[in-house]
Amino acid sequence: MNDSAGGDGGAPGADTSAGDGTRAVRAGLPEPVKHEPTLPGPVFAAHFHLPGDPTGPYTYGRDENPTWTHLERAIGELEAPGRDDAETLVFASGMAAISAVLFSQLRAGDVAVLPDDGYQALPLLRAQLETYGIEVRTAPTGGDAQLAVLDGARLLWIETPSNPGLDVCDVRRLVEAAHARGALVAVDNTLATPLGQRPLELGADFSVASGTKQLTGHGDVLLGYVTGRDAEAMAAVRRWRKIAGAIPGPMEAWLAHRSISTLQLRVDRQNATALKVAEALRERPEVTGLRYPGLRDDPSHEVASRQMRRYGCVVSFTLPSRARADRFLDALRLVDDATSFGGVRSTAERRGRWGGDAVPEGFIRLSVGAEDPEDLVADLLRALERSAD
Ligand SMILES: Cc1ncc(COP(=O)(O)O)c(C=O)c1O
Repeated sequence: MNDSAGGDGGAPGADTSAGDGTRAVRAGLPEPVKHEPTLPGPVFAAHFHLPGDPTGPYTYGRDENPTWTHLERAIGELEAPGRDDAETLVFASGMAAISAVLFSQLRAGDVAVLPDDGYQALPLLRAQLETYGIEVRTAPTGGDAQLAVLDGARLLWIETPSNPGLDVCDVRRLVEAAHARGALVAVDNTLATPLGQRPLELGADFSVASGTKQLTGHGDVLLGYVTGRDAEAMAAVRRWRKIAGAIPGPMEAWLAHRSISTLQLRVDRQNATALKVAEALRERPEVTGLRYPGLRDDPSHEVASRQMRRYGCVVSFTLPSRARADRFLDALRLVDDATSFGGVRSTAERRGRWGGDAVPEGFIRLSVGAEDPEDLVADLLRALERSAD
């Protein structure tokens, strides 16, 4: 590797012929500069020296920050490898990123189609959009039900796999139908991560995600991002970020970038264990409604295997009652009873405790971490035994 400024040209992580691990460890890194760190540290700056005309790239800390720039390049290289037309913007959280797309693209009188089984804050967004005179229609994630409500829509929002039900929709088919009607398509890519699914390659206009989950993977950062391929639409998203000011702190952005270097390691380990966990749970009589898109007999497997390269680290299932589910969670030793997902430490929760999802009382969302698979499976099976009446 060159030890002086400049290097041999081309961002090292942007080599589209390299494997996912190689691209993840190098994603977004600047060319090597002698005596500079590999990944420059967080730039803590509310403002930058700016004599004369106020031109960019760095003027005021709500508009741009060099630490974001590196992170945005890293995410862009993974979400849209080799695409010069794609742009990525980072946000303070997944919700900030989702809001930025919805509120920058929709106007009073527009129609948006949202999932009725997606992340539980979507109904809050729906209510907010409606107060601005935007008509919101909903459809379940699986089964192409969106097709029946697309006429006249300006934007189709899909979340695949969906949280917490893990349904999957055929992104290409829905994009084709939406574009034929002049509607934009945004895909929430949180569960899949960019190593599991690349919505822009499937034709979507935006890939939007919470980076709080498996992308950063340590349960210590809130982050969101939007990757889009239409310059005008992305200019509106950028403008929204400036207006709303929902920006990530430099420390969070830097931590996120550092975490992305281990994305392939974490994702491969966690997702392989998730499949083992799902296979072990499938054998248990008290477990019903088991969902994991990577299971061959999962209702989503066929469509998932056409568009996903990895199936995620979340497994969901139902135990016979609320009390049984609570006892099960209580008996686990290696799995924290906590919300969120995607972290290296396994977590699980009884999703019904929040009241926002249409799930049975005994429904468990389990996020599989990076523990040894044998230990984790043993802990889950032991907790199932101990929680029996
Ligand atoms: C699918 C999905 N999208 C978006 C979000 C919101 O992300 P954040 O919590 O980073 O705002 C979540 C959070 O759980 C999620 O599961």
